[in-house]
Amino acid sequence: MKIAIHGADGDFSERWIEYCEKNHIDFQIVDCFDSKIIKTLENCKVLLWHWRWIQPESQIVARQIIASVEKMGILVYPNLDTCWHYDDKIGQKYLLEALGAPLITTDIFYSKEKALEFIKNAHFPKVFKLRCGSASTNVKLAKTRKEAERLCQKSFSSGFKPMGEFFADSKIKIKHTKDMSHFFEKIKRMPKFFIKYYYANRIIPRQIGYIYFQDFLPGNDFDTRITIVGDRAFGLIRHARKDDFRASGSGSVDYDHKKIDKRFLNIAFEITEKIGARTLAFDFLLDAFGEPKICEISYCLPSFRIFESEGYWDKNLVWHPGNYYIEDLIIQDILQELQIKR
Ligand SMILES: Nc1ncnc2c1ncn2[C@@H]1O[C@H](COP(=O)(O)OP(=O)(O)O)[C@@H](O)[C@H]1O
Ligand SMILES: [Mg+2]
Repeated sequence: MKIAIHGADGDFSERWIEYCEKNHIDFQIVDCFDSKIIKTLENCKVLLWHWRWIQPESQIVARQIIASVEKMGILVYPNLDTCWHYDDKIGQKYLLEALGAPLITTDIFYSKEKALEFIKNAHFPKVFKLRCGSASTNVKLAKTRKEAERLCQKSFSSGFKPMGEFFADSKIKIKHTKDMSHFFEKIKRMPKFFIKYYYANRIIPRQIGYIYFQDFLPGNDFDTRITIVGDRAFGLIRHARKDDFRASGSGSVDYDHKKIDKRFLNIAFEITEKIGARTLAFDFLLDAFGEPKICEISYCLPSFRIFESEGYWDKNLVWHPGNYYIEDLIIQDILQELQIKR
């Protein structure tokens, strides 16, 4: 039995490798971007690949490679069901609607005429989003019809950069710097990060030819992020930025599990199972009637957010306190699945 791990800096692979070494599991580091990757994987039973937008080449090809590798009978994390909708709010709209999930009402248009017709009759504000992006960079409030028309004009002419501006939200990023050494550490990393942003903005297609509006749910000072990892649910609350409706990327996180609305847990477990995802994070808000609504989903998230949570709920909503590494849970779950498969 051999596990293939796509190795990259700063992602889940670092701990996956450590885990395999410690537990004497036969593994091999692979490069999924190597043209011979299919041949390389022939003697493997499992592939672990933590692909993210920060490696924009994965947006070009990760889904296609994973779909192909699954056809070889290899267990993959993330499998296609887990990741095809990653960083793709357009895909998520159709998927969540198809499953009858409580997605916030979302309207997408692929022609300027249809979009303008919608804007003419719609109530404002509406939330404008690009299909990709994280930390709220591509999420804006269209407060008025005029503003929506301007966004529409741009969506069907020059379009938008996929990853937004590098210096967006700089004030918040500086504010959440713990101390001076942390600040200098960030400054040191800036050129590398800037290059990654610049590169991602060139590789990932410019966002053009569609417009995405979501009903605005006012009064949500925070969103609740529930992350399902196998049969476990982790939860945390993210407070919105000051004078801003957006919570994602604010850096203001509360891990107190007693504050988590249990209704979110049931929905997240149910929808993850329907999707067939190995891991899935949900951003939840409440609508005007106090009912849970999904704002978006994402298969991956920073590992420390799971570790710093105080524990997890199982499917019976029994609480299990502790600090867990998402990487370990993923590898344990997939090895168990492999055992069952055999
Ligand atoms: N329809 C909405 N109504 C109110 N607030 C919203 C809505 N959609 C998103 N938000 C807020 O904006 C933040 C970012 O939106 P989200 O869709 O999660 O994008 P991102 O991929 O950048 O995290 C959310 O964390 C939430 O606080
Ligand atoms: Mg989000």
